[in-house]
Amino acid sequence: MPSAPRPLSEPEKIFEARDVVKIYDMGEVQVHALRGIHLELYPGELVVLLGPSGSGKSTLLNILGGLDRPTSGQVLYRGQDLARASDRELTAYRRHHVGFVFQFYNLIPSLTARENVAAVTEIARNPMKPEDALALVGLADRLDHFPSQLSGGQQQRVAIARAIAKNPAVLLCDEPTGALDSATGIVVLEAIERVNQELGTTTALITHNADIAAMADRVIHLSDGRISFVERNAHKKRARQLHW
Ligand SMILES: Nc1ncnc2c1ncn2[C@@H]1O[C@H](COP(=O)(O)OP(=O)(O)O)[C@@H](O)[C@H]1O
Ligand SMILES: [Mg+2]
Repeated sequence: MPSAPRPLSEPEKIFEARDVVKIYDMGEVQVHALRGIHLELYPGELVVLLGPSGSGKSTLLNILGGLDRPTSGQVLYRGQDLARASDRELTAYRRHHVGFVFQFYNLIPSLTARENVAAVTEIARNPMKPEDALALVGLADRLDHFPSQLSGGQQQRVAIARAIAKNPAVLLCDEPTGALDSATGIVVLEAIERVNQELGTTTALITHNADIAAMADRVIHLSDGRISFVERNAHKKRARQLHW
């Protein structure tokens, strides 16, 4: 039988995870957090990792972001295996290629919004101006505010500006709206959406909230350490159309 014609050039993969296993060794017990993950992420896409608490979402994101290593398997970032990278290489990878956003904003209380962002851009290779990063998330008029003078949603948007100001290739967000009410959460998701669309940053967004999945290009469902299925949204919603 003739083989199917191959496309002339396959899209470059940003990430390719092959049979990724993560076992936390707790002495008496072993926790199988990831049980063989296969995954590909492509340039510019916005992917939601959806699954219940304990399904392995944060473990997977931390491994993609070079914060942790798998017990076995391969995690290729643009062809380079993070599972076999040295500590030094992983640090450089995180510093230059990855932006992180977590549920809690971790801003430095004694620094203004602008200074919180500048603290990162000062050590970056090709940074945005802190003012531009803050404008992108809708905080052009809050540059000189301290975290205590900002709402939770505004603080999270400063954290997003800080994460993207170094122009990372990937933005990894772990339950970024987990501490926010829905109206505020949607404004934060709009900021993430805008970064993805205007900068083209490949974005992975963890949530256990199924309503958020509608804004993704693809939804990767996790269950008990495995990917149960992957779906593509034919018509993704804008963040502002979401409600929960
Ligand atoms: N540092 C750790 N040490 C031991 N077990 C852990 C650790 N981190 C996560 N786990 C366990 O691994 C499983 C997956 O956790 P996690 O990746 O945090 O899931 P999720 O983010 O989907 O809630 C859970 O059973 C959790 O208790
Ligand atoms: Mg988690």
